Amino acid sequence: MAFFSRFSSNLGIFLFLFSLLIAVASAQLSSNFYSSSCPNALSTIKSAGCDASILLDDTANFTGEKNAGPNANSVRGYDVVDTIKTQVESLCPGVVSCADILAVAARDSVVELGGPSWTVQLGRRDSTTASQSDANSNIPSPTLNLTGLISAFSNKGFSTNELVALSGSHTIGQAKCSSFRTRLYNEANIDSSFATSTKSNCPSSGGDNTLSPLDVTSPTTFDNEYFKNLVSLKGLLHSDQQLFSNGSTDSQVTAYSNDSSSFSTDFANAMVKMGNLSPLTGTSGQIRTNCSKVN
Ligand code: HEM
Ligand SMILES: *[C@@H]1O[C@H](CO)[C@@H](O)[C@H](O)[C@H]1NC(C)=O
Ligand SMILES: *[C@@H]1O[C@H](CO)[C@@H](O)[C@H](O)[C@H]1NC(C)=O
Ligand SMILES: *[C@@H]1O[C@H](CO)[C@@H](O)[C@H](O)[C@H]1NC(C)=O
Ligand SMILES: *[C@@H]1O[C@H](CO)[C@@H](O)[C@H](O)[C@H]1NC(C)=O
Ligand SMILES: *[C@@H]1O[C@H](CO)[C@@H](O)[C@H](O)[C@H]1NC(C)=O
Repeated sequence: MAFFSRFSSNLGIFLFLFSLLIAVASAQLSSNFYSSSCPNALSTIKSAGCDASILLDDTANFTGEKNAGPNANSVRGYDVVDTIKTQVESLCPGVVSCADILAVAARDSVVELGGPSWTVQLGRRDSTTASQSDANSNIPSPTLNLTGLISAFSNKGFSTNELVALSGSHTIGQAKCSSFRTRLYNEANIDSSFATSTKSNCPSSGGDNTLSPLDVTSPTTFDNEYFKNLVSLKGLLHSDQQLFSNGSTDSQVTAYSNDSSSFSTDFANAMVKMGNLSPLTGTSGQIRTNCSKVN
């Protein structure tokens, strides 16, 4: 597990960022929203995303081999969003929202890594009130038990089935040692050889920011190995393993572990639903010039 491709990881970040974007209001989105105002928006997002990832890929040995080092957290996707935004702005200034860029890039990432595709509805606008405290209170914690996860998703209108399907995005990407240390050193429902090897990358103290793959088997492929891992007690986060821990979601995890096409279908449908969750549209919000800050 020494080497982890930054290429895939940078693609995965879009999915992660997009999942944090569960926003506000009520909407009329459409898949052809930019067809006259910026006809090349989607192809530019796709190619700029790839270009930026390839640039970062050049530093793969530096940032990737130890999954650590000073850049482990800073070179993780925001730069890529910045690069995409810069290219889209030069093409069509003030037209394409950062929220739509993330929605498209999340879909493109999944496809690039071998997962399903779906049609992205467009026309979201960007929030003018970035709220760290909202983000902190709305984003589910990896320490939640199954009841807590079900309730966090239910609060956003998602079923328990959708919780399980969306959690399958942890088939790619990485987590910091501090996000799973407690599970690693204290829980019994963890495969012992998986625990031993993961501990080498996550000591009982220190190394909080050292990264490990969320899917130990195929960290850079969008497949159903995440669910197979859960069945073999190799979930990295406490919240991951909660989905297969003698509870009501065990059967769905087992089903996905045997049938990747049902996972793909359910995941794509749930991503469309997540993307349509009360976005800002019309005259609400703004089109940010720089995705990192309000205008
Ligand atoms: C079920 C509730 C969820 C919990 C508790 C959760 C928690 C986490 C945590 C703790 C991390 C690692 C962050 C870090 O340590 O730096 C993570 C990473 C990630 N999550 Fe989730 N997550 C959940 C659902 C989702 C959903 C719904 C998606 C997208 C559909 C998603 C996509 C990702 C991705 C792609 C990463 C990897 C990011 C990277 O490699 O930089 N997660 N998640
Ligand atoms: C990066 O590592 C790979 C495999 O270890 C090696 O083949 C490649 O030459 C290295 N690239 C650079 C730029 O050092
Ligand atoms: C789940 O977590 C909540 C909050 O920490 C706790 O009150 C509840 O008892 C837990 N449920 C189970 C089944 O462990
Ligand atoms: C399910 O329960 C059994 C019996 O209590 C236990 O041995 C096993 O570790 C549990 N499985 C998980 C994944 O928690
Ligand atoms: C799926 O696979 C598991 C383990 O390989 C097996 O026990 C189970 O019966 C299979 N079938 C279904 C429909 O879950
Ligand atoms: C966007 O804003 C951030 C934060 O102020 C800044 O670091 C970055 O250079 C800006 N990007 C561009 C392309 O201007």
